[in-house]
Amino acid sequence: MHILLLASAFNSLTQRVQAELRDRGHSLAVQLVHEDGPVREAVRQERPDLVVAPYLKSAIPDDVWSVHTCLIVHPGPVGDRGPSSLDWAVHEGADNWGVTVLQANAEMDAGDVWASASCSLPPVGKSDLYRNEISDAAVEAVLLAVGRFASGTYTPTPQTPGAGCRPLFRQSLRRIDWQSDSTATVVRKLRAADSQPGVLDELLGGEWFLHGGHPEPRLGGRPGALVATRDGAICRATTDGAVWIPELRPRRAPGGPATFKLPATSALAGRLSAVPERPAPLHRTGHDDTWSEISYREEAGTGFLSFSFRGGAMSTEQCQRLLHAYRFACSRPTSVLVIGGGRDFFSNGIHLNVIEASADPGAESWANINAMDDLVEAVLTTTDRLVVSAMAGNAAAGGVMLALAADEVWCRAGAVLNPHYRLMGLYGSEYWTYTLPRRVGAAAADRLVQDALPVSSAAAHRLGLIDRVIACAPRSFDSEVGALASRLAALPATRSRINAKKAERDRADLAAFREAELIRMQRIFADPHHPYHGLRRAFVRKERPASGAAAQRSPLSRG
Ligand code: COA
Repeated sequence: MHILLLASAFNSLTQRVQAELRDRGHSLAVQLVHEDGPVREAVRQERPDLVVAPYLKSAIPDDVWSVHTCLIVHPGPVGDRGPSSLDWAVHEGADNWGVTVLQANAEMDAGDVWASASCSLPPVGKSDLYRNEISDAAVEAVLLAVGRFASGTYTPTPQTPGAGCRPLFRQSLRRIDWQSDSTATVVRKLRAADSQPGVLDELLGGEWFLHGGHPEPRLGGRPGALVATRDGAICRATTDGAVWIPELRPRRAPGGPATFKLPATSALAGRLSAVPERPAPLHRTGHDDTWSEISYREEAGTGFLSFSFRGGAMSTEQCQRLLHAYRFACSRPTSVLVIGGGRDFFSNGIHLNVIEASADPGAESWANINAMDDLVEAVLTTTDRLVVSAMAGNAAAGGVMLALAADEVWCRAGAVLNPHYRLMGLYGSEYWTYTLPRRVGAAAADRLVQDALPVSSAAAHRLGLIDRVIACAPRSFDSEVGALASRLAALPATRSRINAKKAERDRADLAAFREAELIRMQRIFADPHHPYHGLRRAFVRKERPASGAAAQRSPLSRG
């Protein structure tokens, strides 16, 4: 079928639905919807067999849904309605949730039900759930609905009678009362608002949206007080403990420019002098559950270097910290080293927000890309053990290339990869000109970077971009990877692979690849008129890029 996807943004779910439907032989067009106009025009132009809206915040015009079957993906179980489904679910501590595919009609989320799927809701942030458990359930329901529609014989069932629409989840409900809220309550409020819109709060004389939240098991203090910093996050005391808050966004002044998130310590720079830095141990040996961005553990002779950066973004400092930890991991007596996180994003490359906030974004882009390259180089030149990239979730641009530097790349089935830089106007670095063609061949590498389309893990596997797809629920990824890595470490062939790898790397002139890529990147960073700067500015502020730069991000794309 020819399917038109309507979306308010080309977000992770829209990308995954596009990639999964394309994998099943459908042709796809994606229309980004900012107002009514382009919907009618896109439908006229595309003449789709079916319209699917994986993520749509506005209503589909009557003259479109009354002529074409339009399926809306609603992130809630059958009977749930309203614009803040997941916020309510996390707020109420639901253990199980679901996704429903409804037919668009005149009333919000009230149309007939074409399919639904259920999922668990582990205690993590809302957008992490959205990219993982909800995304898995949404794809299951969309594929079922599309199959039913294609059969031509299926009659959708009416929505549960009397199902009421739950209201928008407002800031007044999110408010934290530091004098009376426990750690569990504060974490729940932060998670229901993560990553958007955050929880509006007051701190050190300013108004901020707090983003992200992790319980701290040992620290504490006067409720509301800042008691520590770590990995760019601040730790704030509750009535019975403390929570880590990784990012802050200043409240937008009336009529002022859009603001954006930054690591909390950067946002509060200069105001935190009396707050001690309390680093967590890198090498975790016992049951140490304090939060940190990076940690290392060993199991059965295999090393696991875990990292998890907000939004998958890696600043210069985060790259340097990870490189330091990587070197430590390489000093350990293991034959297999697994790098990656337990859930969600693997990496999305350089930290565009930190770059945007710096006094000289061109110079900071340069520092950040060099720090990424140093890290990738360390992985590429590791010749005394096998390195495995374990991708629990999505990755893009330099983040994909970081994964490709490893000897094996394992990916959770639900992950979506964007192995290209064009949408940010960049040529790219991270040794991609070495690793990408080596994996998929020159022609496919060219197509991937030029087409700039999201790729499902199954398609990535077919292309040779990754080595293994792990079909499991997000919560099982860590243990599946652990078992596979131990098996790999025990294989007699592993030793001979390590020897062969050393010989291959000795032959590759890695420095030449790095230099050629960086020459192109330096030109981009140094040219204030290059589209990269406008695209970055718009990306971090969640604005539409100005028309010149927007040519890189077409509102109607095909795949
Ligand atoms: N720097 C800073 N923040 C980043 C980021 C980056 N490189 N990549 C993603 N993020 C942030 C997003 O702003 C978003 O923030 P929010 O939660 O406050 O909305 C969050 O991470 C999740 O990203 P989002 O865009 O919502 O996820 P997605 O799954 O819908 O889309 C991408 C994923 C990767 C396609 C998109 O985030 C992207 O284009 N990122 C930039 C990649 C890039 O060009 N990197 C630089 C070159 S190496």
